[in-house]
Amino acid sequence: MEYRFSSRVSQLKSSAVRDILKLTQGNDMISFAGGLPAEELFPVQAVREAAGRVLDQGTGALQYGLTEGYLPLREQLCERMAAKGMVVTPEEMILTTGSQQAIDLLVGVLTEPGDTILVERPTYLACLQVFALHGLNIVSAESDEFGMVPESAEELIRKHKPKLLYAVPTFSNPTGRVWSEERRKRVLELTRQYDMLIIEDDPYGDIKFNDEEHSSLFALAGSAQDNPVLYTSTFSKTVAPALRTGWAIGDSRVIRMVEKAKQAADLQSSTMDQQILSQLLSGFDLDAHIARISKEYGARMNEMDALLRREALPGLNWVTPQGGMFLWVELPEGLDAEALLRCAVQKGVAFVPGSSFYADHPDRNTARLNYTHNKGERTVQGVARLVEAIGEFTVRS
Ligand SMILES: Cc1ncc(COP(=O)(O)O)c(C=O)c1O
Repeated sequence: MEYRFSSRVSQLKSSAVRDILKLTQGNDMISFAGGLPAEELFPVQAVREAAGRVLDQGTGALQYGLTEGYLPLREQLCERMAAKGMVVTPEEMILTTGSQQAIDLLVGVLTEPGDTILVERPTYLACLQVFALHGLNIVSAESDEFGMVPESAEELIRKHKPKLLYAVPTFSNPTGRVWSEERRKRVLELTRQYDMLIIEDDPYGDIKFNDEEHSSLFALAGSAQDNPVLYTSTFSKTVAPALRTGWAIGDSRVIRMVEKAKQAADLQSSTMDQQILSQLLSGFDLDAHIARISKEYGARMNEMDALLRREALPGLNWVTPQGGMFLWVELPEGLDAEALLRCAVQKGVAFVPGSSFYADHPDRNTARLNYTHNKGERTVQGVARLVEAIGEFTVRS
C-alpha cells in the first residue's frame, strides 16, 4: 500500500535533532532540551479543589460547550488582560487548545498558501512547522538584544510583501530576549505603513525576574477594534500545560473567523479544563502563584548562569535572561551544536541545537538551554557534562 501524503506534509523537514532527542528519555539523562515547566511547582491542590467544585456543580462541565469558549473564563481573562492595558470584551476573545492552536487558526484564516510571513531569526520552532503546513513562504528578519531589527524587517517587507508578521517579543523562545519599547513602536509603524498584520505570541510575559513592565504590541496599537495585532497567550507556563488552554484576542471580525475555523478543527476546546481554570481564577491567587514560580525560575536561571560563568569557556557567550524559560548560548566559533549534541548525549546531557529555530541559514554554533525543569545537583551535573562535551569536542575538532 502506498500512502500518498499531501505536498505540504511531505515538505515538512524531518529533523535529525528530534531523532537524537528521542534517545534522551532515560533517568540518568539530564535534559535542558524541553521547554517544560517544573512539575513540583504545579498548583496540584488548587487544581484538585477547583476540579471538585466544577463537578459538584453538576454535569455541565462534561457536556459540549461553546466554540468560542466558556464565557465566565473569557470574562475573567478580559479583566486580567485589561490590567495589562489590553482592553477587550469577551466577543473579542476566543479560547483555544493552547496558544499553539490559536496561532494555527489565525494563520489559517489570514493567509493563502504561497503567502509570505515575516519572522525573527531565530524563532519558535513549532511555529515554523505551522507556517510550513499552511504552505507559507517564511522570511526571517535579523534580531539583536533589542528585538527585531527594523532595517532588516523593512528590507524584507519591501522585497517579499509579507501579509503577516509573527513574533514573541517578550522573553522569546528560543532567545529569552525582550524587544525594547522603541523597537516595538518602530515595528508597529512598519506594519501599519506596509499594511500587514501581526501575530503576537506571549506565553512567557508573566514569567519575569524583575519588576520591569513590557507593553504588548497589542496594547501599544490601541483597542481591539481595527487593531493590526492579534495577541495570544496561554495557561501552559503559569498553571499547567496539560490543561491545554490558551486564548487569542483581536478585532471581533477576526475572532469570528477563527471561531468558524475552530468549529471545523475541533468544535471546541475542553469544557472541563476551561471550567477548572475559571474556578481556579476565582478561588486561588494566581498572581501570587505566578510570583512564586517566577522567583523559583529566576533562582534556577541564576544557578545555571553562574555555573556557566564560573567555567569561563572561551568563545561561549550569552545574555542573562530577565524572564522566560530559556538561556540562548553562542558556542565557540565553528562549533556545530548538532555535532556537539551527539557528543553531549553520550555524556548524559541534552539541549536543543540552535539550528532548529531558523527558517534558513542557521547559526550553527548556537544552542537553547532550558533552566526551569532542573535544579540543584542535576543542573550542576548537567552543566558539568555539557562543559566536558564542549571541551572534548573542541579538542577533537
Ligand atoms: C513561543 C511559544 N508559543 C506557543 C507555545 C505553545 O504553547 P501552548 O500551546 O502550550 O499554549 C509555546 C510552547 O512552548 C511557545 O514556546
